[in-house]
Amino acid sequence: MKVLLLGATGRVGSRLLPALVKHQHSVVVLVRSPNKLPPHASSHIAATITGSATDVATIKSAILDHNCDAVVNAAGLASMTSFGKQGDLTKIITAVAEAAAAAAKERGGPPLRCWFMSGWAMLDSPKPPAVIMDYAPLFPEHRKTFDVIKQYDAREQLTWSIFCASTLTPRFESASFPPAESCSVDNLVAKADSPPAWSSSWSGVPLIGTYLNIFTQAGNYKTPLEDSADFIAADLEKGLGSDFVGKRVGLKLKEKGI
Ligand SMILES: NC(=O)c1ccc[n+]([C@@H]2O[C@H](COP(=O)([O-])OP(=O)(O)OC[C@H]3O[C@@H](n4cnc5c(N)ncnc54)[C@H](OP(=O)(O)O)[C@@H]3O)[C@@H](O)[C@H]2O)c1
Repeated sequence: MKVLLLGATGRVGSRLLPALVKHQHSVVVLVRSPNKLPPHASSHIAATITGSATDVATIKSAILDHNCDAVVNAAGLASMTSFGKQGDLTKIITAVAEAAAAAAKERGGPPLRCWFMSGWAMLDSPKPPAVIMDYAPLFPEHRKTFDVIKQYDAREQLTWSIFCASTLTPRFESASFPPAESCSVDNLVAKADSPPAWSSSWSGVPLIGTYLNIFTQAGNYKTPLEDSADFIAADLEKGLGSDFVGKRVGLKLKEKGI
């Protein structure tokens, strides 16, 4: 696909870029500071646009001018709590979604395939419709991401998926082209809307059972940054036919028996 990537200078975006290239996507990046792109990146990028991910007009032009049919947003960073200064994440998500939906409408073709980075706590808790964040209120802006994105019809307006990542741990210090062979979607198991391989341990304990259940398993959901990037890039090969369209997506490192 022709992919517009936002946030390519960040931790996640810098790993998404080589993963997208590895999966034969043509990548257009929209960044504030092109000089912060990873070394050797420029020869792998179809076009670089300088601008803000909060600017609907810039994002829409980038999509239309370069005929992009997918968008991956890794721009912005959620604050851990609602105290203190909040960043631009909700503004960015709102702008990217609005621009992608408007571009598809103006072009008159199918909606764009879009992945939005979000957090693990936006997956279903053991007692849906409550989400994990209802029990563990960390990185609260991710809830706003879901609130904004779910307003879009996933088949008609914006073919969205929300990547609900726990801590993303780098296998390597920096991004490389191509990524190391050990970095692969094949190392992961994925599930729509709830964490994969969830166990019911502790859930029977009165009053605090669900909290214990969530907190004892949270640490199992760290995934390697590069493998997670490979997951998104591989999924984009399926285009609008992905099983994850209109879903929040949880990932886990494969273990024996999964
Ligand atoms: N890293 C993790 O372990 C992890 C885990 C779960 C979820 N996530 C989520 O994944 C997403 C990306 O996280 P990250 O760790 O990669 O964050 P990061 O390293 O701070 O990168 C953020 C990126 O957003 C860009 N950005 C911020 N505001 C922008 C704007 N107005 N216009 C254009 N670009 C803008 C930054 O560009 P500049 O270089 O110009 O500042 C940078 O490229 C976030 O939503 C985060 O909450 C991350």
